[in-house]
Amino acid sequence: MTPPLQHCLGIDELSREQILLILEQAKQFVDPKTLAIKPNRSLQDKVICLAFFEPSTRTRLTFELAAKHLGAKTLIFDADNSAVLKGETLTDTVDTLLAMGIDAFVMRIKEEGVPCEVAQFVGNRAHVVNAGDGCREHPTQALLDLLTMQMEKGDLRDLSITICGDIRHSRVARSQYQALKKCGVEDVRLCGPSAFLPEGDVWQGANTFTDMQAGLQGADVVIALRIQKERMQEIDYPNSDQFFQDYGLTQDKLKFAKADAIVMHPGPMNRGVEIAADVADGPQSVILKQVRLGVAARMAVFKLMMAG
Ligand code: CP
Repeated sequence: MTPPLQHCLGIDELSREQILLILEQAKQFVDPKTLAIKPNRSLQDKVICLAFFEPSTRTRLTFELAAKHLGAKTLIFDADNSAVLKGETLTDTVDTLLAMGIDAFVMRIKEEGVPCEVAQFVGNRAHVVNAGDGCREHPTQALLDLLTMQMEKGDLRDLSITICGDIRHSRVARSQYQALKKCGVEDVRLCGPSAFLPEGDVWQGANTFTDMQAGLQGADVVIALRIQKERMQEIDYPNSDQFFQDYGLTQDKLKFAKADAIVMHPGPMNRGVEIAADVADGPQSVILKQVRLGVAARMAVFKLMMAG
């Protein structure tokens, strides 16, 4: 029997069965033709706190919308105006929130591993969801990305998937790669300049390319990634124009992939750097579908954690 979810901290902690269960649950929350979200009031008695210590548009708002579609109450923890700035420790803050009766704590923070430490501290008193910690993991982004691929392309195992750009500093790519491998996808390619290709760790044996033509050849899914300047030294920033010329996903480079390849991007995008505007807005782009399906994927995580 598939174990229930207590926390959602990283793809590294999820089994293949749990990943597939989340994807199946998410599909039940979305009309496959219109992508309209089907509300479900199964968490009416629950309170979910969103604590983002790093900027976010998509993740924070889709978590909030997901909680509301399930009937839960939401509390927004304003990190920039909280008592943390008066010296309160994170564990005292968490204890304070638990005393208010929160059931789940969604957290984004730049320090890697902090959501796992909070989950260890909380135990079974509440649920903790990692909404991104440093370069380590962004599990719900990977889940919504797999959901998008499944809904667009069917069986994941048959797909050739190329992740392009700044993979080394990307928690999204690190979660995506682990999720795809757990789901049995053999052909996952990483393509970017050598300074942006990852090494060791979960990437052992990864198929890497520094040439976009070779990396994109025959791909079914092309994922572009932003240069994550906030996680590197200024001296290491590449020249944006040169990067666009060599690695920016343009219509010309996209022609190396299959004619019906889909284009994905977790957002936020930097048009004219890692992706051309006419590709981002073009017929192969499913970037805004990813955002919509993020609501369903996050509803699924909440439901499986809190409604059994
Ligand atoms: N994909 C993603 O994490 O976007 P936000 O930073 O807007 O949440």
